[in-house]
Amino acid sequence: MKRTVAIIKPDAVYDGLWESIRSRYIEAGLEVVEEIHLTLTDEEARDFYAPHSTKRFFGGLVLSMSFRPCVALLLKHPTKDAVEVVRALNGAYTANPSDYPKGTIRGDFRGAGGPFNRVHGSESAEEAVREWEVVLAHLAHKEKLKTKGYSVSYRPEYCPRGTTGIWVP
Ligand code: TYD
Ligand code: MG
Repeated sequence: MKRTVAIIKPDAVYDGLWESIRSRYIEAGLEVVEEIHLTLTDEEARDFYAPHSTKRFFGGLVLSMSFRPCVALLLKHPTKDAVEVVRALNGAYTANPSDYPKGTIRGDFRGAGGPFNRVHGSESAEEAVREWEVVLAHLAHKEKLKTKGYSVSYRPEYCPRGTTGIWVP
């Protein structure tokens, strides 16, 4: 079953809306495969939104995704196309935020407009795979910082007596 990525964007998290928004996805029958709370760096948000890199609103878009923590959801649906389910729930982008239809997430949890439209939804299953890689790369980078570039081995021959792991270069 194909998966999609929904991101509850930092302005929605800041306004205390992420649980209500996540409920919309779950009530629509989507299943949460993975949920990751993270603050993307500027560079990671640029990667994430790379398909929009030539657009005039790119700077605002990058800021809207990186200025605070967001909630990244990997979602699937047992019978339907998860990409389409999420995009219908989110509502298509409109320049004037009051034009987002009622019943959509962007309509019911209206933000400040432009890129500050509460949620992101992948355009295709292939895009979702790429986007999730950006999220996972963030985690891998954080893990590397924690261990100063060393990785942890659990092979018994590397583990001093009484320990479960040791860092090896
Ligand atoms: P887009 O992929 O066209 O919309 P969607 O999020 O519905 O897939 O654009 C990505 C985001 O960029 C959109 O959610 C909000 C922002 N955006 C603007 O701020 N101005 C614009 O003119 C457009 C087209 C998008
Ligand atoms: Mg889009």
